[in-house]
Amino acid sequence: MKIGIFDSGFGGLTILKEIKHRMPEYSYVYLGDNARAPYGTRSFDTIYKYTLQAVETLFSRNCDLIILACNTASAKALRSIQQNDLQRLGSHKRVLGIIRPCTEIAGELTKTKALGIFATSGTVSSQSYEIEIAKLFPEIAVISHACPLWVSLVENGYTHSEGADFFIQQEIDALLAKEPKIDTILLACTHYPLLYDKIRAHTPAHIQVINQGKIVAESLHAYLRNHPEIETHCEKHGSIEFFTTENCEHFNAIASQFWGSEIHAQQLHYGGSEGSKR
Ligand code: DGL
Repeated sequence: MKIGIFDSGFGGLTILKEIKHRMPEYSYVYLGDNARAPYGTRSFDTIYKYTLQAVETLFSRNCDLIILACNTASAKALRSIQQNDLQRLGSHKRVLGIIRPCTEIAGELTKTKALGIFATSGTVSSQSYEIEIAKLFPEIAVISHACPLWVSLVENGYTHSEGADFFIQQEIDALLAKEPKIDTILLACTHYPLLYDKIRAHTPAHIQVINQGKIVAESLHAYLRNHPEIETHCEKHGSIEFFTTENCEHFNAIASQFWGSEIHAQQLHYGGSEGSKR
């Protein structure tokens, strides 16, 4: 079996990059639902339906272990899939999210007990980070803030623009106005690492800004170590296949920027045939 990595679009590549760096030996399949991204503003029902479709597709491609490398999908669809669908789809198969491992680490990092979260509107409205932190660290206050424009800045190639500075500063000011004691900010959206340098530059120096990739990679590593019944079935060819539900050329151009080297994806039509490998 291979390890499946799912995201609504490009952002999950920032997670896969760290996973691949930590565990280069495994075989991975990446699926980005670019044709229907962004998920961040969609309803619970829609995100559940889309994420389930992605999970079924990755299962059919021999990925018995799937990481939902999308905060919005993890927040809104993971639990329903685990509770309603996994039994039917194969009780030995696993779908994991990225919220729990990130809360475990972020909760350890704040000394002032005030944790800031930047995320999509969907993740913020789900209150998933608040719920998970409350279970592990009831003394910590979570201050979530949605940055609806940041994903669009990244998707449209404005990552390094001056316009991005304006919108980044605006959201940092808004978050810190809610709670000046914040000493740790978690970037809880897969796209935001692409804006990291600007976010870091506009955030007061005493506040730490945390990306998710390394945390998720470390957590997956620990999971495989603790589950030899899964690990021993993992293919170790060091390969990655990339699939997108959108036009491949567009995906390859943008994804290659995220990835740092050229990507050749295959287009995938749900319930239909795939485009040719490029
Ligand atoms: N992948 C999404 C997340 O991490 C961000 C992009 C989107 O809204 O689809 O929440």
